Amino acid sequence: MSILLTGITTSGTPHLGNYIGAMKPALEFIQDSKESFLFLADYHSLIKQQDPSLTHDSSLKIASAWLACGLDPNKTCFYRQSKIPQILELNWVLSNVTSKGLLNRAHAYKAAQDINKSNNDNDLDKGISAGLFNYPILMAADILIFNSNKVPVGSDQKQHLEMTRDIAARFNHIYGETFTLPEAMISDDLPLLLGTDGKKMSKSYKNFIELFSTEKQLQKSINKIQTDSLEPGEIKSTKDSILFNYFQAFLDSTELKLIEKKYVEGAGWGDLKKLLFDLVNKEISLSRDRYFNFIADPTKVEEILQEGEKRALKIAEEKMIEIREKIGIKSLNGK
Ligand code: ADP
Ligand code: TRP
Repeated sequence: MSILLTGITTSGTPHLGNYIGAMKPALEFIQDSKESFLFLADYHSLIKQQDPSLTHDSSLKIASAWLACGLDPNKTCFYRQSKIPQILELNWVLSNVTSKGLLNRAHAYKAAQDINKSNNDNDLDKGISAGLFNYPILMAADILIFNSNKVPVGSDQKQHLEMTRDIAARFNHIYGETFTLPEAMISDDLPLLLGTDGKKMSKSYKNFIELFSTEKQLQKSINKIQTDSLEPGEIKSTKDSILFNYFQAFLDSTELKLIEKKYVEGAGWGDLKKLLFDLVNKEISLSRDRYFNFIADPTKVEEILQEGEKRALKIAEEKMIEIREKIGIKSLNGK
């Protein structure tokens, strides 16, 4: 039976990419899972930005988004990473079975080095924190502490899951069978959702469409999605169309065929954007009111998280006791 786990970094506003890549699949797969853990990756947030009020506001927004989209805190363990100190303890333990070479190959680190390269900087590590470099280990600790075996994520996280498996296997090899090797659950036919500018949609870039905003704001954001300058009546190509990437994310294959037909028939970009707006709006309109109600009631959200944290703490401490024993950190008289 599966133990599902996924997290979202509290470094900004929840966006359509988070919803499509992580929230929606996680909430669907939970139905068939024995146990589930959904959390706010608030210590991960420091890797991406260091504005305390942004991390704080984002925590309420992301928690509210999970709850509004249907997370049931009675069935799912819902918590903040920062409230489970055993995760950071395990982070250290895992650091010692992780080779530096593995971390050298991490996409996020390499991308940061590439920026220095393109600026012709002699120091490739300029401005790169040890936190960014060690990021895959903290993520492995998040996953392994709860014995989770299924991790729904967007395809950008594939390498992190592979690294988690490597790290877990290495630990098991040295200290004996301790960790389950988790699997990423990534939908093959779901490309990463693109931002309005055609790059990956991310909280870190100003290219995202908020998951919850007013209808008017949603319409405005969708209107900003870049298209070419073909007029209504001219045949349009779905290939390289950012807008089509959104239809792929929100429609099944039969419905998508109808959209492809509209492209071939030369539908205008304005009409296609209106169609997309109706589609997205329909999907999230029920959750929108719930989201704003949670945002207006941080005490309630805090209480829900604290309940989940009590349960998560118990499970994490049990696992950590096992791990400490395995590595030889235990009482001197064996009791
Ligand atoms: P961000 O890049 O905005 O900071 P996170 O790193 O917090 O997002 O990602 C949380 C989850 O959302 C991860 O599972 C990630 O793969 C998924 N995700 C983020 N952006 C996208 C996207 N553009 N398309 C699909 N999934 C995404
Ligand atoms: N690193 C993920 C991201 O930036 C968020 C995350 C942190 C996560 N820990 C996790 C996702 C554990 C899944 C499992 O997208």
